Amino acid sequence: MKVLITGSSSGQLYHELLRTAPADASILSTQTDQSPRLDITNKEAVGDFVDTHKPDVIFNAAAYTAVDKAETDREAAYAANTEAVQTLASAASRVNARLVQISTDFVFGASDGHPFKVDAATAPISVYGKSKQEAEQIVVNTLPGTGTVIRTAWVYSANGNNFVKTMLRLMKERGEVGVIADQIGTPTWARRLAEAMWQSTTKTVPGIWHWTGAGACSWYDFAVAIAEEGRAAGLIEGDVIVNPLRTDQYPTPATRPGYSVLELTKTWDAFDMSAPHWREDLRLMLKELK
Ligand SMILES: NC(=O)c1ccc[n+]([C@@H]2O[C@H](COP(=O)([O-])OP(=O)(O)OC[C@H]3O[C@@H](n4cnc5c(N)ncnc54)[C@H](OP(=O)(O)O)[C@@H]3O)[C@@H](O)[C@H]2O)c1
Repeated sequence: MKVLITGSSSGQLYHELLRTAPADASILSTQTDQSPRLDITNKEAVGDFVDTHKPDVIFNAAAYTAVDKAETDREAAYAANTEAVQTLASAASRVNARLVQISTDFVFGASDGHPFKVDAATAPISVYGKSKQEAEQIVVNTLPGTGTVIRTAWVYSANGNNFVKTMLRLMKERGEVGVIADQIGTPTWARRLAEAMWQSTTKTVPGIWHWTGAGACSWYDFAVAIAEEGRAAGLIEGDVIVNPLRTDQYPTPATRPGYSVLELTKTWDAFDMSAPHWREDLRLMLKELK
C-alpha cells in the first residue's frame, strides 16, 4: 500500500501517522532538494507528485490550524484548508486513490447539549470552521466512494504544540492557571486518531465520521486532569491551582462552540475499533512525554 501523508514533521498527526504505520505501508517521501515537504497549496506540485507516484491512499494531515489567526488571514486558511483539499481530491480521483481528510468539531455551531451525530447539520461560526466544512463537501462530492472525512477535536500529542504541553509549561512556571470551564468537548490523543486512520484503510468507509477520545469534559476539567496526571507522571512538582474561567473572561478572535462533543459509536461500529476514555490516553501520552 503506497501512502502519501501530507504535512511535515512539525505536525502532531503527521508524526503519529508515521509512528503507527503498519508493516505493509510504504510511505512516499515528499522531501526534495527544494523543500522538506510537499506544499499542498501548490497545485502543480501536488498534481505531479500524485500522478507520478500513484499512491493507493492519501492521508491529508496538513492544515492551517491557527484558529484565531484565520479570522484575519482568511485567504491563507482557505488556500490550505479548502482549495488544497480540492487539489488533493481531484488528484486522488485521477489515480483512484483513497483520500482521508481530517476535519473538526468546529464545523458545528449551536448545540442542544447532545453529542453531534455524523449527519447533524453543520453551521460553522469561525473562518477556520467554514474552511474545513467546505473541504468536507469537496471530499464527499469529488470522491463519493473513496473519500473519507474524519472529524476530530482537541488534538494533542508529545510532538508539536498543543494545550497539554502549554498547560504543563504554565503550571511549572506559574503554579496557577485560569482555564475556560464553559466550553465542553473531548480531548483526542493524535496517536489514536492516527490508528483510526490506518484502520479506515482496511474498511470501506466513504463519507463522514467522528473520532475523538471517549467521554467529554471542559477545558477546565482537562487542565485539572493534566495537573493531576502530570504530577503522578513526575512532570510537575508541588501544588498547582487551576481556576475556572467563563468564556467572556478570556476573549479570542474566533468564536468557539460552547458544546461540541462528537457522537462516536457509529464510527466505532463501522471501523470495528473503539476509543479509550480521554483521560486514559492523556495518562499514556504524559508517560511518553516523561
Ligand atoms: N489540533 C487540534 O486541536 C485539531 C482539532 C480539530 C481538528 N484538527 C485537524 O487535525 C488535522 C491535524 O492537525 P494537527 O493537530 O496535526 O495540526 P498541526 O500540528 O498544527 O500540524 C499542521 C501541519 O500542517 C502542515 N502544513 C500547513 N500548511 C501546509 C502546506 N501548505 N503544505 C503542507 N503542509 C502544510 C504543517 O507543516 P509546517 O509546520 O511545515 O507548515 C504541519 O505539519 C488538521 O486537519 C486539523 O485541522 C486539529
